[in-house]
Amino acid sequence: MKPIHKVIIDKNTSFNPIWIMRQAGRYLPEFRKIRKENPNFINLCLNDNLSSEITLQPLKRFNLDAAIIFSDILMLPYGLGQKVEFEKNFGPKLGNLNLSDIAKLDEIDFVEKTYNVYKAIKKVSLDPSLKNKNVIGFVGAPWTLLVYMINQQSPKKNLKEDFFKDEFLINRMLLIIEKFLKVHIKNQIDHGADVIQIFDSWAGLLDEKDLPNYIYAPTLNLVNYIKSLNVPVICFPREIKNYKEFCDIVKPDAISIDYNIDPKKILRDIKIPIQGGLDPKFLLADKETLKKEASKYLDIFKDHPYIFNLGHGVLPETDPNMFDYLVKTVKNY
Ligand code: CP3
Repeated sequence: MKPIHKVIIDKNTSFNPIWIMRQAGRYLPEFRKIRKENPNFINLCLNDNLSSEITLQPLKRFNLDAAIIFSDILMLPYGLGQKVEFEKNFGPKLGNLNLSDIAKLDEIDFVEKTYNVYKAIKKVSLDPSLKNKNVIGFVGAPWTLLVYMINQQSPKKNLKEDFFKDEFLINRMLLIIEKFLKVHIKNQIDHGADVIQIFDSWAGLLDEKDLPNYIYAPTLNLVNYIKSLNVPVICFPREIKNYKEFCDIVKPDAISIDYNIDPKKILRDIKIPIQGGLDPKFLLADKETLKKEASKYLDIFKDHPYIFNLGHGVLPETDPNMFDYLVKTVKNY
């Protein structure tokens, strides 16, 4: 059995597998080199030779237990025909949303645009270096994708005042997003993904009263779908106001936590396998501090099935030597 499966399926507590969100990315000089030669980020994700190479870059350097496919949650709006661009020092910029065009799309139109993501997953999963490692596929949660598709850029701290004004649009979009996320997930699994992570990066923007409608209901549908395909699903509802209620209702196979939530409270409240938590900023500190802070999570979860990860993506200014030190610290714990 592969390392993440041992923890999630077998509930093994004798070791802690490690992978890191954004492990393939800008903190690695070999990624920056390829990125410089490929100014269009979406096209880079769709170049299956390069995206599989980038996926494997961190595994060549570090003793990680899983590869996460180099792609983006915004491949979904791209596949639905919404324009998606990444501007330097600004982040994603999306085009106008045309509901009547999107409502006409079928599965084949979508897969035609995203097919190279699946080809890249196939290449990665067949790589001999991944024999005893997991291949993680991922999607954005319906809520977070809705935020990007309507807001057309990162919301930072707040949604636009009129975000919820067109209720018809919002409810239709949630259903359409859910339908095509299932297609995207099924294809990733069919091409070799053996774990799926659902990123709900903007779960923290909602008040508790809005969680059932925008997060619990659509995410539960996806989680049940992924379970029906016999692949474990990890949810990361970043900064959600109530992790316990989320787990009780959505019942993912594992829950990934952010760095603001108290891990001791999580251990008390939550019975399913847990992942992540460490603040990525500690990778910018000295080795002693990094070791102390990482050990805090390993100590707290020592008798609980626990996958080591950060509480959000690794920062671009991280020194790869510190990343290596973190991996070794977890492996030698
Ligand atoms: O290594 C991995 O984790 C796999 C690849 C991956 C990327 N994006 C590549 C990427 C994954 C899992 C994502 C998920 C993603 N994308 C999320 C959820 C996680 C989170 O960070 O909350 C979100 C919200 C996005 C949307 C997105 N993509 C934003 C907001 C940005 C710009 C901000 C940034 O970090 O640059 C991106 C761009 C992006 N996605 C980059 C990478 C490596 C940087 C692109 C570059 O080189 O300019």
